[in-house]
Amino acid sequence: MRHRPIGIFDSGLGGLTVVKAIQKELPREKLVYFGDTARIPYGTKSPDTIIRYARQIIRFFRKEQNVKCVVVACNTSSAWALEKVRGEFPIPILGVIEPGAYAAVEATRNGRIGVIGTEGTIASCAYVKAIRHLMPKAKVFSKACPLFVPLVEEGKTSGPVTEAVVREYLKPLTKAKIDTLVLGCTHYPLLKRTISKVAGKRVRIVDSAEETARNLHRNLDIHGIELSGHGGGKYYVSDLSRKFKEQAQRFLGKHIPKVEKIFIEKY
Ligand code: DGL
Repeated sequence: MRHRPIGIFDSGLGGLTVVKAIQKELPREKLVYFGDTARIPYGTKSPDTIIRYARQIIRFFRKEQNVKCVVVACNTSSAWALEKVRGEFPIPILGVIEPGAYAAVEATRNGRIGVIGTEGTIASCAYVKAIRHLMPKAKVFSKACPLFVPLVEEGKTSGPVTEAVVREYLKPLTKAKIDTLVLGCTHYPLLKRTISKVAGKRVRIVDSAEETARNLHRNLDIHGIELSGHGGGKYYVSDLSRKFKEQAQRFLGKHIPKVEKIFIEKY
C-alpha cells in the first residue's frame, strides 16, 4: 500500500500549486496529477456535474494508477463533491477546505475572516461551515470573484486592470474589517501580491495549499502509508491546449517533462 502513488486532481492546472506544496512536504512520495483541462471551469457548473466529474477522476485514479489516497486540490470540487464521494471509495480522500479553514482560524486575531472563491465554492458555504465548526463565534464574509480565474489563466496577475478588479471585489471585505483572507481557489495564490497590496498589510493571506500538504502528511502517518521512496510525478490532462506548457510552468514553478492526454468520460 505504501508504495502506491497519491492522486491529486483539479479542474485544470491551478491544482499544480497544491502539487508544489506536497512535493515540498513529502518529497519521497510518488504523485499522479490529473487536470481536467477540457472541462474547466468547474466554478460555474452545477453540483451534480461537479460530483459526476469527481467520481470519474477517482475511478481513473483507482483503476489505472492504483492510488493509495486522493487529494481534491480543486476548491469547487472539495466544496460540492468531497462529502459525497468520500464514502464511495475505500481509500482516504482529502480536500482543501478543511485545511484552509484551520489555517484561517489559526491566523485570525479579531475573528473576522474573509473568504474568496468561485461562484460555486461561495454558494456552497463550505468555508463558512468549516470555519464556524472550528470557531463558532467567527464572523465570515464571503465573496465570489469570477473574473480572477480568467485573469490568472491569461497571465494577468498584476497591473492596473487586475488591481482594479481586485479592488472592486475586495471592497466589501475590507469594509468589514477582516484581518484574515482565505484564498479559496487554486488560481488565487498567483494573485497573492496584488491581493495583499489591495487588502493592506494588516490582512493575513491564507493559501490552503501548504496546510493541505501538512494535512496529507498527518493522514498518511495515521494510516501508516507514508513512503520513503524517490518521489516522482506523472501528469495527465483531459485536453492539451497550446498554452499548456506556459500555464503549467506558472503554477508549478518548473517545467513538466511529460504529460499525457486521456479521455476521462470513459470512467
Ligand atoms: N480549480 C477551481 C477552484 O479551485 C478554479 C477554476 C475553476 O473554476 O474550475 O475552485
